[in-house]
Amino acid sequence: MTTKLALKGGTPVIAPGKMKAWPPIDDIDRKLVMASLEQTSHAFGPNCVAFEKEFAAWNGNKYAITTNSGTAALHMAIVACGCGTGDEVIVSAYSWSSSATCILHHSCIPVFVDIDFNSINMDVNKLEAAITPKTKAIIVVHLHGLPVQMDKVMAIAKKHNIKVIEDACQAHGAKFNGKKVGTIGHCGAFSFNQNKCLCSGEGGMFVTDDEEMLNKARQLWSFGETATPTQKRDYHVYAMGWMYRNNDLTAAFGRAQLTKLDGYLALEIANAKVLTKALQGVPGIILPTAPEGCEPNHYNYTIRFDMEKLGHVKDASAFRYKIIDALKAEGVDTMVWQSFILPAMTVFQAKDGFGHGHPWSSPHAQPVDYSLDQYPMAQKHCDRHTGMTTPLRAPNGPDIAKLVAEAYQKVMTNLDQLS
Ligand SMILES: Cc1ncc(COP(=O)(O)O)c(C=O)c1O
Repeated sequence: MTTKLALKGGTPVIAPGKMKAWPPIDDIDRKLVMASLEQTSHAFGPNCVAFEKEFAAWNGNKYAITTNSGTAALHMAIVACGCGTGDEVIVSAYSWSSSATCILHHSCIPVFVDIDFNSINMDVNKLEAAITPKTKAIIVVHLHGLPVQMDKVMAIAKKHNIKVIEDACQAHGAKFNGKKVGTIGHCGAFSFNQNKCLCSGEGGMFVTDDEEMLNKARQLWSFGETATPTQKRDYHVYAMGWMYRNNDLTAAFGRAQLTKLDGYLALEIANAKVLTKALQGVPGIILPTAPEGCEPNHYNYTIRFDMEKLGHVKDASAFRYKIIDALKAEGVDTMVWQSFILPAMTVFQAKDGFGHGHPWSSPHAQPVDYSLDQYPMAQKHCDRHTGMTTPLRAPNGPDIAKLVAEAYQKVMTNLDQLS
């Protein structure tokens, strides 16, 4: 292997064009999407109805509602849990923005819990201390496809009589103690956005086994009406409603991809195994781990740079970007996933969602503290991480995983060239 970094004019480890785009498209996609186009029900059509049934069966849920995003499904989950103005909902301090803004969407108050640095998920040992008499629900985010330790979460929730929402937007097929995510809490949300393990362009799914929660979620989903678009509607608004429904073309694409999902996940998990093995011994990096009982789907293979060992604690984030630039030049499709922890985002620091400080200013809310020193592990992770999705995704195979490891080896043993 040459040691001159591609960033400095050397030859890249992964040649341009070698890495294949996600998701693979074949005749199954073409057939279902074209058939949708040729029929006449393009809004909430037959593919939407079929997609709900097929996804519920695949995941092991009694009910599913197909939505136009994972965020919509999360908002529906907040409502399904009976949350209202001023109620508190606990969520991890590090996730996608809408894991927390979905709480604001229903005038509820997010309460953040720091992460466990090793798993990158909410530190379940800090969960109980965040519960107050106002707490109505907990959103557990199975971040990067690694399940949260749901046994502990469910025991705490039961003790305090609060609901658990699984944000499984990144975690299709991941399992905790043998159970698929989205079947363990009271309800859950999946995303089918471009980058997700099941891609339909955009889209999502609300899942539950509870009929009452299903009905509450459905009402919000379709204009506050009680009937679904396939039933006889009275067009009466019974409660607050949005328009979160999916459309037939998108559902057709989702159905086609669902037939291939098990194969995609098996390949991704196998690729991750190859990568983890090949990265052993590369200096200065921290590899992903899975706590006992957790079977991740490796949605986002996240590597942290050991800045303490590398001597870059003060400029951790800046030095991390230099390493990423070097990896990208070697042909590794890697990125910083979220460069802000959630409570640091302006909407939370300003405590103003809808104007006039709402929902924090509501007489139904109690004061909450978003001082950033409460989330040291989230910030530490945020400054040191880089993540990959495409390199481990179908149709890329173990050959790509091995090249990614080679690029890491090359960059991490030649960091002197970056200074
Ligand atoms: C953890 C998590 N939650 C929620 C979402 C929202 O999903 P969508 O983009 O489909 O609204 C995402 C999407 O990136 C996510 O990663």
